[in-house]
This record gives sequence, C-alpha cells and structure tokens, in this order.
Amino acid sequence: MIAEAVRRLKNGDIVAFPTETVYGLGADATNNLAIQKIYAAKGRPSHHPLIVHLAAPMTLLANAKTTTDVLTDAWLKIISPWVRDLPPAAMQLILAFWPGPLTLVLKKDKHVLDTITGGQSTVAIRSPSHPLAQELLTAFGEALVAPSANRFGKVSPTRAADVYAEFGNESEILVLDGGDCEFGIESTIVDLTGSDGIRLLRPGMITPSSIYAKTGLQIDTFTPSEQEAVSPRVSGSFKAHYAPNTPLQLYQTDKLNTSLNELDTQIAKQNHLRKLRIGLGAWESTTGLPTVPPNIALNSIQLEIVTLPSDHVGFANSLYRTLRDLDQQNYDIILLPTPPTGEVWDGARDRLQRAAFGSGPSSASQASN
Ligand code: TXA
Ligand code: MG
Repeated sequence: MIAEAVRRLKNGDIVAFPTETVYGLGADATNNLAIQKIYAAKGRPSHHPLIVHLAAPMTLLANAKTTTDVLTDAWLKIISPWVRDLPPAAMQLILAFWPGPLTLVLKKDKHVLDTITGGQSTVAIRSPSHPLAQELLTAFGEALVAPSANRFGKVSPTRAADVYAEFGNESEILVLDGGDCEFGIESTIVDLTGSDGIRLLRPGMITPSSIYAKTGLQIDTFTPSEQEAVSPRVSGSFKAHYAPNTPLQLYQTDKLNTSLNELDTQIAKQNHLRKLRIGLGAWESTTGLPTVPPNIALNSIQLEIVTLPSDHVGFANSLYRTLRDLDQQNYDIILLPTPPTGEVWDGARDRLQRAAFGSGPSSASQASN
C-alpha cells in the first residue's frame, strides 16, 4: 500500500492517510498541480492555506538515544526548506511536541508555493506522530500538504471508512487505513510570526497550559470573535464548520429538561403528523457529570439516547465519529451537550459549536460563505 501511495504521489495524485488527529488528504508539497487537486476535491476556497506535513528525523523514528544538539540539527535540516527566521521558541516547541498534534505558523521560505500559503508570507508546518503517516512521509521523501480529508465545511474523518464516505463513490482516491485516529480533533495551531508573543489560532489537545508546563512558553489566547478578526484565513475559524447535515443543537447540561420542554413546545406548534425523532447525546454517568432524566413527559418529540464519554480525551476522540454516526440515523434533530468550560475542553467545544452553527441540509453553502 505504501509503495502504491508513493507511486501515486510522485505521479501528482492525491492520497488519503491517517494522522494521530484526523485523516488527511495528501499531495506533494512541491507540485502545484497536485496541490490544486486537493482544493478541487475538497471544494475548498483556493486562498485557504494548507499545513505542510514533515517526516521526523530518522534517529527519533528509530527510537535511538541522541542528544538535544543532534536532534536540533536534524529538525533544522528538515524544516529549513520551508521557513526562514526561526525564532528560538519554535525549536523549543518542536523538541517538546514533535512528532505530534501541534502546528506552527512561521515566516515562509521564498520557495514555498503560493498554492500552499494562499499567497501569505507565512507557512504552517507540523510533523504528525501516526506511524503510517511517518512511514509514508519517509518513503515519499518529500513533504506533503494535507488538509483534513473531508469536503469543505463538513465533519472531519477519523476512520478510513469516513474518507470513503466523503470521496469514495465518485473518485479513486487511495486511502491508507491506519485505524481510528488517536486524538480525534485537528492539531493545535500556534502562530509565532507576531511581534508580541505566540498566539493560539486553533485549540486542540495540546493546550496552552501543557505548552507552558513543558517549555515555559506563554501562549496568548483569544475569544473566538477576536480570533476571527485577526485570522480570517484560518478556515477552522469560520463560525460554520465541521458540520453534519442533520440540524444540530446544543444544550447546557444543567438545563436539559428546560431545553427539551422548549423544543417539545416549539415542535408542537409546527403541527407535524408524527413525533420528531431526536438523537440525544448524554454524558456517561460514571465520572460525575449529570446524566439525562429521560422520563419527563414529551408530546411532540421522541428521544433516542446515545451516551458520550464524559472525559475530555474520550469525548474528543469520539466527537467526529459520533457526529457522523448520528448523521446517518435520519434524526430530525441531533441534540448534544455543550462541553464543560475549561481549557482541556476548548478544542472539542470549539468544533462542536461550529458544527452546530453550520448544521442542517444547507450547511455546505453556509460553510463556504
Ligand atoms: O490535525 C491537523 O492539522 C489535520 C491533519 C490532517 O494533519 N489537518 C488539518 O488541515 O486540520 P486543515 O486544512 O483542515 O486545517 C488547516 C488549518 C486551516 O484552518 C488553515 O487556515 C490553517 O491551518 N493554516 C494553514 N496555513 C496557515 C497560515 N500560514 N497561517 C494561518 N493559518 C494557517
Ligand atoms: Mg479541516
């Protein structure tokens, strides 16, 4: 499979592959025509920049013991064709978190293609930790650009079957199957090109606190509206993104009964001939978060309950899978709990809120606006 994937990539075709976050749609990062195929396949606006995926140093992959100096030199060789003016903080982050789910936005080298950066002066780079991703990058011998392997604005894929569901019927995209993705939401993105510190552009499973704990580096966070103003080019920053076709609404865990009663009343007024089916996500009871009391009287809706992991790692891991699976059930509405506040939940909460905003049958057109 790897040999066939490499053959296709060398031929300028695109290949889907697993990463530890979500599945990516990969193309040769030095081939303009191949990169354009990604935009075409996804239906993604062409000025939305892509992340360059890099192989890790052989010494790391072989688990060999090596000094920080040797490792620093090895990473420098790998990233130098892509970036210029590497701030010291970037190498600190690389040594602490790569390969892994952290993307760095840096000033780009002049050779980096405009099709990757959307014509900006910066480039996003990361080295994924999934062994199959590393195997592919190493065998290919060149960097790969890889957005999540879904159509623009839709739910990201975390299983090979999800990629087939997105593209399988009408194309012959090769999908390397690496099982379920470990983290389940896209990498954390930080921007190191500002003059006033490092900025969080997209929350993920590597949090500002974990970055501070490992490196002593402080990461500036923004409220979503501030973030949209400063980084309109981060496509994940669209209010509508990651969206299912079924209308998705969120409820506050402690106000579930109120939300259900309101929904019931609202739907009663619409005079449907049948009860509407609601796919209701509820926290697993085991870890202390409140669960659903499904025994309140409802006249116009009927609930089908799906339990959700109540720890942030399990929740993120299954989030997109759950959205896709619920989307297949022909519910009239999907109702999910808003994740708790707190930094470790930021990534999942961010994705879920955008998914709710963009959801419904017309979500594709909303998302691309
Ligand atoms: O986990 C991930 O990062 C996955 C896997 C496949 O690696 N990839 C991914 O790619 O999420 P994509 O294209 O779905 O999201 C890339 C994000 C977009 O929000 C894009 O705008 C942002 O990275 N980005 C890329 N280059 C950038 C740049 N130069 N400045 C700011 N944001 C950038
Ligand atoms: Mg994406």
